Amino acid sequence: MQAYRGSILHLLEDPTKTTNAEAVAFHEDGLLLVEGGRVAGCGPYADLAPWLGGAELTDLTGHLITPGFIDTHIHFPQIDVIAAHGKQLLDWLEQHTFPAEAAFADPKHAADAAAFFLDELLRNGTTTALVFGSVHKVSVDALFAEAYARDMRLIAGKALMDRNAPEGLTDTVETSLADMEALIADWHGKGRLGYAVTPRFAISCSDAQLAMAGEVLAQHPDVWMQTHLAENLHEIKETARLFPKARDYLDVYDGFGLLRKRSVFAHCVHLKGDAFRRLAAKDGAVAFCPTSNLFLGSGLFPLEEACSHGVKVGVGTDVGAGTTFSILHTLGEAYKVGQLRDDALDPFHALYLATLGGARALDLDDKIGNLSPGKEADFVVLDLAATPLMARRLAGAKTLEDKLFALTVLADDRVVAGTYLAGVERYRAVRAPT
Ligand code: GUN
Ligand code: ZN
Repeated sequence: MQAYRGSILHLLEDPTKTTNAEAVAFHEDGLLLVEGGRVAGCGPYADLAPWLGGAELTDLTGHLITPGFIDTHIHFPQIDVIAAHGKQLLDWLEQHTFPAEAAFADPKHAADAAAFFLDELLRNGTTTALVFGSVHKVSVDALFAEAYARDMRLIAGKALMDRNAPEGLTDTVETSLADMEALIADWHGKGRLGYAVTPRFAISCSDAQLAMAGEVLAQHPDVWMQTHLAENLHEIKETARLFPKARDYLDVYDGFGLLRKRSVFAHCVHLKGDAFRRLAAKDGAVAFCPTSNLFLGSGLFPLEEACSHGVKVGVGTDVGAGTTFSILHTLGEAYKVGQLRDDALDPFHALYLATLGGARALDLDDKIGNLSPGKEADFVVLDLAATPLMARRLAGAKTLEDKLFALTVLADDRVVAGTYLAGVERYRAVRAPT
């Protein structure tokens, strides 16, 4: 058994649905016990110390332990287009994204990028992600191979796109079906990996391809589905033109059987009450991607409205339209989006979205999302004095809430001192001597 002593903060419930006393667990001097890759105990040091026995004790006093962060929307083949100047979504795809993704036809390029991508997630404290690959099967093989080697809980899929994309970046119904069946057979359920059927968005998929995607999901009920929905006004208009019979954008996906439990829709910036209601009724989830929505000028996601309709929401970085791998920093940006809507995001709600809320969005809350006994021991060790400014501001924080809030606003990768996957340390920050 391994034991970690430090401050521990995690969410047991959605703090907007109950009191903070019920939702938020904080142990100033806490102890986390890990056995066989799972949490064996988590609570105040004084209560759990008798159970230490011969456990190997790591002293993290002065650090904050939280569950690993969950990124519900990110693109692996877009690491090289992060921070690319230009216009909004459809132009950005043409100018920057499609050319970069074309390079992922090469297995060597994909393997190098996969290792970098996963290491970057771990450097930022992300222990689970729902990931878009490129259209090429080899990109997803490369990503799964690297995630398997790290024993990471990761879900990914090859992008389906059989129209409205440059040559070299399209598939067909036949090739994409064969690729998906092979990827599911080879990787879904292997270690902690899962497959997601991944129609890029309605514009890039024919009716026949969306229908095929729905059939694959019907045959594999425990496979995930990920796509983009109602991100940008031009995209919405073009979708309506391509699918004149659909009631709205959500109905395009719903009509092909793509809206169900384990379906995650990125953005949903321009969704309204009725669509949120239908999304919630069919148990779909939304990935809120604030840095991307700001960077591409897509708009301000109505988080409060989505939540009020009972929609499950997680946060996504959406790299490379998103501008950071850090989920903590993404929470700080989510707060700013809330401010522009005159609807401030509560710090505990923010941490919930990044952990247990994300796990619920992915239907994985029986396995990850907090540090309750029996869950997989995916956790991060945060250095609250990672920079002089953070040290000064956080040391002066009057309450836990204030400290957590300032952390999200100021955080970047420097705050992550260590990242553990299933109880194994997979990243440790190397600090310059002071
Ligand atoms: N819609 C379709 N493809 C993409 C993509 O790669 N990024 C974002 N942000 N939106 C999309
Ligand atoms: Zn995206």
